Amino acid sequence: MGSAMASDSFGVAIVTLFPEMFDAFLGASLLGKAVSSGLVGVHRVDPRDFTHDVHRTVDDAPFGGGAGMIMKPEPVAAALSEARGLLPAGSVAVLLAPGGRPFCQELAEDWAAAPGLVLVCGRYEGVDDRIRHKVDETISIGDYVLSGGEVASMVVVEAVTRLLPGVLGNAASAQEESFARGLLEYPQYTRPATWEGMEVPPVLRSGDHGLVRSWRRAQALHRTRALRPDLFERLCLEEADLRLMELHPPVELLDHPGTPGTPDTPDTSDISDISDTSDTEPG
Ligand code: ADE
Repeated sequence: MGSAMASDSFGVAIVTLFPEMFDAFLGASLLGKAVSSGLVGVHRVDPRDFTHDVHRTVDDAPFGGGAGMIMKPEPVAAALSEARGLLPAGSVAVLLAPGGRPFCQELAEDWAAAPGLVLVCGRYEGVDDRIRHKVDETISIGDYVLSGGEVASMVVVEAVTRLLPGVLGNAASAQEESFARGLLEYPQYTRPATWEGMEVPPVLRSGDHGLVRSWRRAQALHRTRALRPDLFERLCLEEADLRLMELHPPVELLDHPGTPGTPDTPDTSDISDISDTSDTEPG
């Protein structure tokens, strides 16, 4: 099961007992376009196709006892080997499991630079641990347990493929992300400028691109400090960043009439609203 792959396309091969789970995911949105245009070629390989008994058995009871079933190593290894063979040499093979190394943006960037990616999805209580020795990495997408690796592999596919040249559609977005490296995102708004009594910060409608940029960086810094102190501590902040934070208070402090419990508004009346400037307004 797979789509035709142009020689310069990025290859993904997913080893899964539930290939149909990927139908909508691979057909929709930016990834759907990347697949149909041949920028990304996706194969799905089912370990059940590599069994040799009438019941097509892929699981068995755990040695040592305990609840649930474990995916047998032979069909998974055979499917993995088939998947590797469908992709160029140098592709990365990854097992999705809650006991893996945490997935992060740096890994997504590394893997987007590889020729392809094999993703092995576990089910039941997990995969026989010897499969770890057949892959390059074992990855977890977070500290919670899913019923299988399929959804986790979708997370990885989306994070990696959106970094491929031509997939995101807007190269500026990737640049913007690297500007904000290590920070949470700054708040974004679209029309209407006032909604349910809440006003979009006037600075964003000022038409002053330099001011907007520094306001956004200050907001990203405030948000990171408030919500992810662990990330904030790791930042190498320059004096200029600290000054920006003082200059632009957190957007959470904006006074929204009708929103209970918000402190007083910082005075932004000196920023003129030239919201009819076409290049600053959402179109
Ligand atoms: N399979 C089950 N839970 C998972 C998780 N958190 N990350 C990756 N794969 C998983």
